[in-house]
Amino acid sequence: MFIRRAVRLCRPPPFQKAKFTVLAIESSADDTCAAVVDSSRRVLSNVVIGQLDLHEKFRGIEPMTAIHAHQQNMPVAVSRALAEAKVDIVRDVDGIAFTRGPGLPGCLSVGMNAAKTLAAALGKPLVGVHHMQGHALTPLLTSSEEDMPQFPFLTLLVSGGHTLLLLAESNTSFKILVDTADLAIGRAIDRVSTLLAIPWTPLGPGDALEKFAEGVPDDARLRLGNPDRVKPGPKDFSFAGLHSQVERYIHAKGGLEQMSEGNRRILAHSFQHAAFSQLEDKIRIALSWCQSQSIDIGHLVVSGGVASNQCLRQRLDACLKSVSTGPPVKVVFPPPKLCTDNAVMIAWASMHRFAAGDYDDYRIGSRPKWTIEELTTPPS
Ligand code: KG4
Ligand code: ZN
Repeated sequence: MFIRRAVRLCRPPPFQKAKFTVLAIESSADDTCAAVVDSSRRVLSNVVIGQLDLHEKFRGIEPMTAIHAHQQNMPVAVSRALAEAKVDIVRDVDGIAFTRGPGLPGCLSVGMNAAKTLAAALGKPLVGVHHMQGHALTPLLTSSEEDMPQFPFLTLLVSGGHTLLLLAESNTSFKILVDTADLAIGRAIDRVSTLLAIPWTPLGPGDALEKFAEGVPDDARLRLGNPDRVKPGPKDFSFAGLHSQVERYIHAKGGLEQMSEGNRRILAHSFQHAAFSQLEDKIRIALSWCQSQSIDIGHLVVSGGVASNQCLRQRLDACLKSVSTGPPVKVVFPPPKLCTDNAVMIAWASMHRFAAGDYDDYRIGSRPKWTIEELTTPPS
């Protein structure tokens, strides 16, 4: 009896309508996000409640603080998203999506439990989404027809937890070409921002470092980075060494107090330059690998929080224009506010599953560690 009832609860019928509306929830790190998006690519609302002020004194995400803030903010985010979208959850929302992983376990649980409870209570279908899939597919929502990436395309995902260069073959099939050997680029940027004691802007340590490094002339640049970095390899983004170089440089100068602001700006600029050069090198390697495999690539999608960096955007644009071999490759970025964490991307990445009636069981668990290559494997 119980089992039969649970199965009925877990499998609402496939949508009958051509256009449907999804409420999505994201809480994998330190932003509490809710959004309403419909299947005709309309973003009806996008609420992000950040916690940067709470974490600044820890100079990074403090997990328990993040969990408590998600618990406080989630009801506010959801009700604001519904109000701003002018939708009634019972009448107008057809499905509920949430970030299933990867992310901080306690943080994921807050969003997942909110989504599961809403879906089960209202009898709505539920879909758990891979966070990085959300970042990777965002340009399919935000690009104009002219710039729309076509599969297969390359995806560079640069965030606080990941530095991934992927071959995207479909909505659900991603092959990792280059992964992070140690520290993700966003984490390295945050740590260097801390080492240099750069005051956070409202957009956080990465944005603060970008602004701090602006205007430094190229000829002032220090030589940082690994000269061997162009070597190809499966798992070979590496930013820990670069972070240590900055640390050693400051130490050799006798500490931060002994460095002028100009000197600190040069160091910030040099670090950012070396980190972005590494991204460019791997993109060139990945493009020539694709060519060698006769995989035609027309687009490079760049997403994740670091992709909101304007200097990186300009550099990657110029980098792809300078690649002379093979057909031209266009670089596509979501708008900056959809590069950082948001629930719009989660809603969008769930659409194909709602359309196919491929829903999750209400008893689904989170997957804090979840490689994007395993996206199509059944829930564990
Ligand atoms: O995708 P995201 O919002 O969250 C994660 O999934 O990690 O990425 C956050 C990362 C942080 O490390 C943050 O400092 C970095 O993105 N970031 C930036 C900029 N804005 C955010 N890094 C460089 N320049 C920026 N303007
Ligand atoms: Zn993210």
